[in-house]
Amino acid sequence: MKKEYIIVANWKMNKTIDESEIFVNNFNNLLLEIPTSKVIFCPPFLTLFYMNELLKDSPYGLGAQNLHWEESGAYTGEISAAMLTSSGISHVIIGHSERRQLFGETDKTVNMKVQKALSSGLTPIMCIGETLEDRKNNKTLTVLEYQLNNGLENVAAGDLGKIIFAYEPIWAIGTGERAEPEQIDEAHRTIRNVVESIGVEENISILYGGSVKSININELLNINEVNGFLIGGASLDVEEFVSIIHQTEKHIKKDN
Ligand code: PGA
Repeated sequence: MKKEYIIVANWKMNKTIDESEIFVNNFNNLLLEIPTSKVIFCPPFLTLFYMNELLKDSPYGLGAQNLHWEESGAYTGEISAAMLTSSGISHVIIGHSERRQLFGETDKTVNMKVQKALSSGLTPIMCIGETLEDRKNNKTLTVLEYQLNNGLENVAAGDLGKIIFAYEPIWAIGTGERAEPEQIDEAHRTIRNVVESIGVEENISILYGGSVKSININELLNINEVNGFLIGGASLDVEEFVSIIHQTEKHIKKDN
């Protein structure tokens, strides 16, 4: 079966509009060919709108890093699903561990955001993952199950296949410490099983995130359970990011 990868660049709170334009120009120049992988850029809100212009005729997707679950109203500093869809945005990262840890997001708010994204036609990229303490206490799989069961409450079975899942062990994010292939494989299998037990019928996509870099991408590409990557730090450096895409494309060609 032909394997397809989804590669998501999570720029977090990085890059001004000017820097984004330079990145996109360099990105287009450095890429050897249009990738078969689905590449999605998730820049900060303000840049998102401008990036939509820059990438207008390109095959790349655009995602936000957050949204609010309400339609509109007195929610200072928040962005609604309708604002995103009307700006041509197709994806949205939900429940990133930085939002959970620094901005008080819970499985409940993740759940409301996932439902809002789905009912608005946005593809949620739902992040889950354990802390170092959870892993040390052998709680990784229980934590993943809990986050999934609560984060997906009341999501119709028919909608589960529309969600992209991202397994991001918190201890591996931005630390340079990547999870081992066996740990990733085990976590991804658990995610697949839990979502299947809730009722999904199609194959779901599960991305790995946490210190993905050009020097470790090949090892990650060999993990059968991995359908793509959510990349922070390495997506900010255009040469590094393009190298990750090139290696992924080479891997796909080798497999077919
Ligand atoms: P990192 O971040 O690649 O810098 O570890 C990943 C993420 O937070 O999505």
